[in-house]
Order: sequence, then C-alpha cells, then structure tokens
Amino acid sequence: MEEKKKRIFSGIQPSGDLTLGSYMGAIKNWVALQDEYDCLYCIVDMHAITVRQVPADLRKRSLEQLAQYIACGLDPDKNIMFIQSHVPQHAELSWVLGCYTQFGELSRMTQFKDKSQKHADNITAGLFTYPVLMAADILLYQADLVPVGQDQKQHVELCRDIAQRFNGVYSDTFTLPEPFIPKMGARIMSLGDPSSKMSKSDPEGCVYLMDSPDAVARKFKRAVTDCETAVRFDPEQKPGVSNLLTIYCAATGKTLAETESAFAGQGYGVFKPAVGDAVIELLRPIREEATRLLGDKAYLESVYRAGAERAARLAEKTLRKVYKKVGFVAK
Ligand code: TYM
Repeated sequence: MEEKKKRIFSGIQPSGDLTLGSYMGAIKNWVALQDEYDCLYCIVDMHAITVRQVPADLRKRSLEQLAQYIACGLDPDKNIMFIQSHVPQHAELSWVLGCYTQFGELSRMTQFKDKSQKHADNITAGLFTYPVLMAADILLYQADLVPVGQDQKQHVELCRDIAQRFNGVYSDTFTLPEPFIPKMGARIMSLGDPSSKMSKSDPEGCVYLMDSPDAVARKFKRAVTDCETAVRFDPEQKPGVSNLLTIYCAATGKTLAETESAFAGQGYGVFKPAVGDAVIELLRPIREEATRLLGDKAYLESVYRAGAERAARLAEKTLRKVYKKVGFVAK
C-alpha cells in the first residue's frame, strides 16, 4: 500500500516583486520537495495588507506571483496553489488561535519589532497579530513541514507553541510543523549593505526574479565587498564576498570549496561579474516563462480557482474540528 505523503505549506507575501532572497530561501526548496510531499503553496495577500498597499498593485502582483511560482518549476497539477483571501477559513481559524496566543509571545517577535520601527506611524493590530494568521495558514492544513528562510523560523516556532497549547487543552487537533531551512541560501543579504537582509523594499540591494540581464549584471558589479581581493568565505570578516559566494553556490549547485578554488587569485573584478552571469542564467528561463504565462490570464485564473477549491475542502475539515472542540454549536 502506498504510504500517505507528508504535507507542506508555505507562502510569500505579494507585498513586492519576488526576489532572489525568496527564491533561494524558499521557492527553490518548494520545487525540490514537490514530488516527495503533498504541497500547498499560497500567495498570502492577507498578510500583505499588514502594511499599507496600493490596491491595484497588490492585485497585479498577486497574479504575477502565481505566474512566477509556476515559472520557477512548481507544477499546478502536483501542488495546490492558491490565493489566501480566497479561502476564508484562514481568517476564521486565525481568530480562534488568537485566543490561545499570549500578548507577550507576539511582543517578542523580531519581525514585529523591525516592522513597527519601519512603519512607526502605522503600527496596526494586524501587524501585531500577523504570526497568528501565519499559524492558522500552517495548522489548517495539518502541515508537517514549512520550507522558509531563516527569518521565518521564529514564526514557525510560535506556530508550534500555539498548536501544542491547543492540543494540550483539547486533545490532539493539530500536527506540529517543523521549519525546513536550506543549508545554502537561508539568509541572502543585500548587495548594497551585506549587514542587512535582501528585501523587496530596497531596489538597489535586491535582485528581483523579473530583473533584466542588464539590471542583474549592474547590481552585481556594484555589490559592496571589502578592500581585500581574496574570494574566501568568512561571513564575519567578509560579509559581502561571503554573500556573493552563497548566491553563486545556490545558483550553480557548486560547493563553497569548489568555488573558492575556482576563483583563487582572480580578484573581485572577475568574481563579481561571474556571480552576475550565474544569476542571469538562473533567472532567464524563469523570466521568460513567467512573461509567457502572464499573457494567459484564463489559465492563471483556472489554477488559482481550482487551488482555492481544493484548499478550502482541506481547511474546512480542520476548522470544523476546532469549532467543535472549543464548544461552538454545529450549524
Ligand atoms: P516573506 O514574504 O517575507 O518571504 C517569503 C519567503 O522568502 C524567504 N526570504 C528569504 N530567504 C533568504 N534570504 C532572504 N533575503 C529572504 N527574504 C525572504 C522568507 O524566509 C520566506 O520563506 N510570513 C511569511 C509569509 C507567510 C508564510 C506563511 C510562510 C505567511 N504565512 C505560512 C510560511 C508558512 C513572510 O513574510 O515571508
């Protein structure tokens, strides 16, 4: 008898264009894991509105993100791909889970601390309770594994704590999820400032999946390094070069040792454009396929509609169980 596959859930906010950081930290693993697991990959638009968005841009980017997921190699026949706001059970479970989450726990989330500094004039309740919605995303589908970059580890750990607490009060209800973080590429740094994470809100330090080859080449040529010349992995002393080495290895599949010896004695003038070329070749087929898919809106619509239907069926099962356990009267 065929063993039941384990389940994966992950998502990305359409709050900006997809970046090389998200690709290397998350999507690359999603593609690698899609055969072995039963996967749901979501466009988490409800998370995106925790900071102010331009509505027309959010709508456009959500669709572009779906096209880019597929172009990166995610097969819509194998995976459930959908838009979060199309499955209302996310918001419903989030409310319940919020009643099993401590104010103190949410106050300790580093992403909340960072974002509330960045958006000091608009620190909303949504920004604060964001990790509860993320826990609902994961727990609704009884996910075993959550492939994410390093920065999301704390949120997945909180999700486990919430699940464990709920299970403790009401008996086993939720599967406890594990974060799955890549060895290479878990935290890609900004090309302009290697002490901060590559993020979609920093256009010069950030490479977008849809950037033209010229733009990619320019960004890598300008990447901040140090005043030595040795291509050596040393994140403490040489954060810029180490970041470029990580990107090169994640883009080509080569090891750090191979790469260091390939560029030994060659200096940054050779190394930086070579990293740019590796990324250009990585992104070329993705950009071309995403552009083609965006011309076929009917197809994209059929993917997200079918995805939402399948997701909602799974989500409803968990939500009914939860409503019953907490004592709500059945409909
Ligand atoms: P988001 O949208 O900020 O990022 C999407 C994914 O990309 C990873 N990532 C990076 N990895 C390496 N280096 C970087 N510079 C980099 N930048 C981003 C992130 O770790 C993430 O895996 N809260 C989540 C979205 C979310 C989610 C979920 C994820 C909502 N619900 C449920 C998993 C499961 C977020 O803001 O990711």
